[in-house]
Amino acid sequence: HSGLRVCVVAGDDAAPEVVLPTVALLHELVPEIQFTQALSGREAQERYGEAFPAETRAAIDSADCTLFGASGGPSRPVLWYLRWGKQTYVNIRPVRWLPGYQSPMRQPERIDYVIVRDNLEGMYPPREGALAELGTLASSGSWWQTPPVQETGAYAVRVSTDTQAHRVAEAACDIALQRLAAGYPGRVTLGAKYSILPRTDGRFREIVREKVREHPELSYQEFLIDDLGRRMIAVPETLDVVVLGNEHGDILADVASGSIGGLGLSPSACYGAEYAYFEPVHGSAPDIAGKNIINPTAMLLSGTMFLAHYGYREQATRLERAIARVYSEGHALPVDQGGGASTSDFIAAVRSLL
Ligand code: NAD
Ligand code: IPM
Ligand code: MN
Repeated sequence: HSGLRVCVVAGDDAAPEVVLPTVALLHELVPEIQFTQALSGREAQERYGEAFPAETRAAIDSADCTLFGASGGPSRPVLWYLRWGKQTYVNIRPVRWLPGYQSPMRQPERIDYVIVRDNLEGMYPPREGALAELGTLASSGSWWQTPPVQETGAYAVRVSTDTQAHRVAEAACDIALQRLAAGYPGRVTLGAKYSILPRTDGRFREIVREKVREHPELSYQEFLIDDLGRRMIAVPETLDVVVLGNEHGDILADVASGSIGGLGLSPSACYGAEYAYFEPVHGSAPDIAGKNIINPTAMLLSGTMFLAHYGYREQATRLERAIARVYSEGHALPVDQGGGASTSDFIAAVRSLL
C-alpha cells in the first residue's frame, strides 16, 4: 500500500554493511515507500548518550514496520523492544537451497521448507535466579527432580502459554495453506521435547496438533526435537512447515542455514498482530566487520519477505529472481560462498539484473 512507512535500524558490527545497500535497492524498486533510519548501539550512544534512545523508539513506533540488521550487544535493547515491546510473536525463517549456494549436503535441492518459531516465550526473555531462591518449586517434584538448592548455582525459567501456542500454530497453518496452493505438500511438522516436558512442550504439541486438524487439507507429523534435528539433515525433503519453540527454533534455524550453505543466505520475518519486523537469521558477524565481505543475501531476502508482506509481490519476485540469477550464473559469488565478490560487488551484480 502506498504511504508505507518503514523504520531502518542498521544494528552493530557488520550489520549496517548489508542493511544500508538493501534499503537503497528496496528504495529503487519501490520509490513510494518511506524509509527512515534510526540510530542504535554505539552511534546512538555517541549522539544521544544511550544505545536505545527515545528517538529510536519513537521512530519504530511511528512506522508500520522495521528493517533490522542485527545486534552484537549494544543494540540488544532494540531487539528486545522489537520482539516483546511490539509483540512480534512469530518468527518465519524460510530454508531453501538455490543453485549456486555452497551447501555441504548431498542433493541440497531437497531442502525447501519454512521454520515457524515462537518468538516470545520458552526461555526468552531471560529470567534467571539463584538456586537458593527457588522456593517451593524446589520440593514440588519427586526425589530425583529436586534441584540441589544447597549448591551455589542458578535456575532459568521456561514459559509456555496457550495463547502463544494457538497463534503460532495458526501462523504455521496459514503458511502451510499458502504453500499448499503453490504446490507444496501442506504438511506441518512439530518438533519439541514433549517426552520430558508434558506441561510446556506437551501442551504446545497438543495445541498445534489440534489446530492443524481443523484444516483437513493439511497433514501433520510430530517428532522429538533431537530426532527432528537429524531429519533436517537426513530427510529434509519430508519437511514443509516446521513449528518450533523459541530456543529450539533459534538453534535449528542456524543448523538449517548451515545445510543450505551458511548464515549469509537465511532471511527471516517476525510478525505480530500490529507490527512486523524483518531481519536476517544471522548476527552482527563481528569477525568480518569493516571488510566489505559480509554476504548481503540474507538481508536482501528478508527484504523480499518485507515487499511480499506489504503487497509488492511483483517487486519481491524481481528481486528474488535477480539474486537467484547471480548465484546460478556464478560470476559474483560472495566470499562465504567460495567466490571473490565483495558485498558491494554482489549488490552491484543484483542491481544490474533488476
Ligand atoms: P553470527 O551470525 O554473527 O556469526 C556466525 C559466523 O557466521 C561468523 O563467522 C560470521 O562471520 C558468519 N556470518 C554471519 N552472517 C554472515 C553473512 N551474512 N555473510 C557471511 N558470513 C556471515 O553469530 P555469532 O558470531 O554467534 O554472534 C555475533 C553477535 O551477533 C553476538 O552478539 C550475537 O548475540 C549476535 N546475534 C544477533 C542476532 C540478532 O540481532 N538477530 C542474531 C544472531 C546473533
Ligand atoms: C536470533 C538471535 C537472537 C535469539 C539473539 C540475538 C537474542 O540468535 O535471532 O536467532 O536468540 O533469538
Ligand atoms: Mn539465533
